[in-house]
Amino acid sequence: MKNKHIVLGITGSIAAYKACSLIRLFVKAGAEVQVVITPAGKEFITPVTLSALTGKPVVSEFFAANDGTWHSHVDLGLWADAMVIAPATASTLGKMAHGIADNMLLTTYMSMKAPVFVAPAMDLDMYRHPATTANLDTLRSRGVQVIEAADGELASHLCGKGRMQEPEYIFDVVDRFFHHQEHEATLQDLAGKRVLITAGPTHEHIDAVRYIGNCSSGKMGLALAEDCAARGAEVQLVCGPVSLQPKHPAIHTTWVTSAAEMHEAATRLFATAHAAILCAAVADFTPAHTAVQKIKREGKAGMTLELVPTPDIAASLGALKQPWQRMVGFALETDNELQHAADKLKRKNLDFIVLNSLRDEGAGFACDTNKVTLLYADGRQQAYPLKSKTEVAQDIIDALCPLLP
Ligand code: PMT
Repeated sequence: MKNKHIVLGITGSIAAYKACSLIRLFVKAGAEVQVVITPAGKEFITPVTLSALTGKPVVSEFFAANDGTWHSHVDLGLWADAMVIAPATASTLGKMAHGIADNMLLTTYMSMKAPVFVAPAMDLDMYRHPATTANLDTLRSRGVQVIEAADGELASHLCGKGRMQEPEYIFDVVDRFFHHQEHEATLQDLAGKRVLITAGPTHEHIDAVRYIGNCSSGKMGLALAEDCAARGAEVQLVCGPVSLQPKHPAIHTTWVTSAAEMHEAATRLFATAHAAILCAAVADFTPAHTAVQKIKREGKAGMTLELVPTPDIAASLGALKQPWQRMVGFALETDNELQHAADKLKRKNLDFIVLNSLRDEGAGFACDTNKVTLLYADGRQQAYPLKSKTEVAQDIIDALCPLLP
């Protein structure tokens, strides 16, 4: 982030006050920030506060009020390493999507040569309106990165999806982007490759409100997706219900709920993938019947659920695997780890399997770290110490790359 030039666009939302924290994070990390604010934005936060934080005059009108100097949006477009619009209102997003350039912020966007990030901020009804959805899709299709609250936070209007993401989160997305940019410049060993990754848990519904699930957070799978994308791959991520959002623009996510849905999406996407990494914690059984209504407890002394097996996604892809494809599986074990992992490696026709054991502290579900051993089809084994999931992902991709034809 050091010496990076950030154009920070601020629009007329109650979340405009959070721009102050965002500026502080950018400035603290060594970036230069130039604020461009819409006329409505100034109703929520004063330019004086903003310029005190950035050390630069705030740009709002096409001409400076005091001396008539012309503010060049073209120069800003060339100066910036990134443009971040936070908060971005429905109105500004709509104008961006349709090329309406009726204020300084919008002309700056349209002249922007650097990557653009938007953090939408509005109430949930506006956010869910088909017009907003279509505008965000249009912007995404043009490469604009939308930084939004995750589905898992859809609890209420106050902390729902339309709410602006926290400044720390927005900063992290932009920081990671620059980090990836530098990383990509040096390491592109997956350029031109397509990688399918399954991640997160599956939820198998018992009735309208209950499901069988597990504690997978998606952290391990998303770390793999980010690393593959940073190394030049086009990533197809098939992800169960988690509250995380992938960040790299080369990650295309298919959100699923059940094992059956994950199976369907993974099978479709596997046909063109050079490699598949099956990191999801897929339920092995699903209720034979899902009740449409909530099952009532009244009048029942007990209850027995009839379960049927789910498709084994790894095994079914393993059976479809072509000589030019590579497959990596995971084994989450609690006992007799090496034996169980070796069995799965063979049964699922994998090139190698990543064993993690719940007996190792800091390994497995939800935590930010993992401790893994790789077991290869040719009998080799490699054990790694406890590391962050980001580093574990890098180790796994380092092991996969030499196996790709
Ligand atoms: O998401 P996190 O909180 O970061 O946690 C990471 C993790 C613990 C989920 C991850 O590291 C992990 O171990 N993933 C696999 C969990 C698992 O279900 O393991 P398993 O031993 O039951 O399955 C073996 C392999 O078959 C796995 O590659 C699994 O994705 C696959 N499988 C299993 C069942 C099924 N019906 N279909 C499958 O594809």
